[in-house]
Amino acid sequence: MTAEIINGKEIAAKKREEIAKEVSKLKENGVTPGLAVILVGNNHASRTYVTNKQKACQELGMHSLLIELPEEVSEEELLAKIDELNHDAEIHGILVQLPIPKHIDEKKVIESISPSKDVDGFHPVNIGRMMTGQNAFLPCTPYGIMVMLEETGISVAGKHVVVVGRSNIVGKPVGQLMLNQHATVTYCHSRTKDLKFHTKQADILVAAVGIANFIKAEHVKEGAVVIDVGINRNEEGKLCGDVDFAEVSEIAGFITPVPKGVGPMTITMLMYNTLKSAEESIN
Ligand code: GUN
Repeated sequence: MTAEIINGKEIAAKKREEIAKEVSKLKENGVTPGLAVILVGNNHASRTYVTNKQKACQELGMHSLLIELPEEVSEEELLAKIDELNHDAEIHGILVQLPIPKHIDEKKVIESISPSKDVDGFHPVNIGRMMTGQNAFLPCTPYGIMVMLEETGISVAGKHVVVVGRSNIVGKPVGQLMLNQHATVTYCHSRTKDLKFHTKQADILVAAVGIANFIKAEHVKEGAVVIDVGINRNEEGKLCGDVDFAEVSEIAGFITPVPKGVGPMTITMLMYNTLKSAEESIN
């Protein structure tokens, strides 16, 4: 193997130590950062994610509030709960775990969260601020990727970044953050013709397609930085990314593994956003 591994678990641990120190300082000033997580229904994966978010809050000394609502909760009831949290001085971050049941309008729910408590960075106000380079809550996975690159000493300016995937949560915003830092950005997706032609040109390749082992060695330029956002199960049920790690690590310069890659950074940046929100609440 030639590629250097970018260890997200280690970078996340370092960042969490920094966050914990800042939380202690805030608490000395009488403010405990508080995150409210709303879980609707009983999706098994969502429950696991939510539990991990709560655990992270506890580890960092933050206040965490879990609100569990039944699958059949009305849109009106959910919006009323969010409104209550928008006005709760002890809550600095509000997160509605997605997906939510089909009878509830997801867009309406996201837009009902106060932009000043939108620690997911999903509200159109925060997305607009991010696009125009203003101070904003940045979506946690893309933000985590930028921090990983920074911590590894990889500069983005002037690089050709190719993003495979165009989701609102990862693909689109990660390209925007790269552009904000002066990269040249290409987006590829399911309708891209000759994917390999594009990915082969990437200095930094971000794979966010949600298909196990989709990116092969033939897609990657020698020495490229490869960021794998995928969390998939292969045929044997083993956790794997969107990148065929065994093949690609032979030719990439840097690569993020799955697990211990991008994953641990997502919750870390959620904690960071909640801390920032609490700090801003007293300024
Ligand atoms: N579901 C999967 N990922 C996320 C996330 O980052 N935030 C929220 N709110 N829901 C999710």
